[in-house]
Amino acid sequence: MDLQWYPGHMTKARRMMQENMKLIDLIVELVDARAPLSSRNPDIDQMGRQKSRLILLNKADLADERKNLSWSAHFQEKGFYTVMADARSRAGLKVIHSMIREACQEKLKRDERRGIKNRPIRAMVVGIPNVGKSTFINTFAGKACTRTGNRPGVTKGKQWIRLDKNVELLDTPGILWPKFDDPQVGERLAMIGSVKDEIVNIDELSLRLLAYLKEAYPGTLRERYGLDEDQAPDRLLADLARERNCLKKGGELDHSKAARLLLDEFRGGRLGRITLE
Ligand code: G4P
Repeated sequence: MDLQWYPGHMTKARRMMQENMKLIDLIVELVDARAPLSSRNPDIDQMGRQKSRLILLNKADLADERKNLSWSAHFQEKGFYTVMADARSRAGLKVIHSMIREACQEKLKRDERRGIKNRPIRAMVVGIPNVGKSTFINTFAGKACTRTGNRPGVTKGKQWIRLDKNVELLDTPGILWPKFDDPQVGERLAMIGSVKDEIVNIDELSLRLLAYLKEAYPGTLRERYGLDEDQAPDRLLADLARERNCLKKGGELDHSKAARLLLDEFRGGRLGRITLE
């Protein structure tokens, strides 16, 4: 899928992130648990190589539970701390708090050796658009937080959210851009709704999703829509249109309407918890 982002935004966001990198101890990198590789930009590994890293497999509530576990293991093997999260919920915050401390053990020990007491861990949230960065910051910061800014040692204008006496979070997340080198990356990002639908061929995308679902999650289409999964994707789409009464004015089947319905239901988790890679 041929998709373009705007290099102007990219350059500015990248410069800003590099500046902010100097101020922090920890990167909290959000990825979408439904496509944990496609939804991350590996440049962050280079940019943040001196920093501790916590990877949040966000939207884990929408992703396959077994795959969440294997992706967590994958990132842990790479040396990252990992938590599965639903950024909208406060339920997992305790785990995240303790994981932040664990990820920053070295800094905490270094401070102790140098006699520095109570210097909070400073963290920045990063990720590609739509992975849940703002949601996470809002949930994590909650109501009780205080915003601090313009203090000595803090670049003017930077706002820090004090989470507790141990952790401060930069209030603006770092935006990364997806890498579309592999056409499947664009496709998966479009499926999870991270690419504007206006620049995507929805019909084609739905056929790819149908093909994937019948392979990777057999029974899903039958259960949800009563489809005969032995058929080719275009037949499945036609049957879905018929099943859900997606018709054009003259009574002809409206494949695009069925395609949108499928994608909406998939994105909203109504087909169950599904991971695309
Ligand atoms: P961003 O700052 O990284 O761009 O993402 P943002 O927080 O705006 O979140 C994008 C959408 O994803 C929001 O939905 C948000 O509610 C949803 N979201 C974030 N985290 C989670 C999660 O862990 N689980 C689930 N299920 N949803 C999550 P929205 O405002 O309704 O936007 P949209 O769905 O209309 O795109």
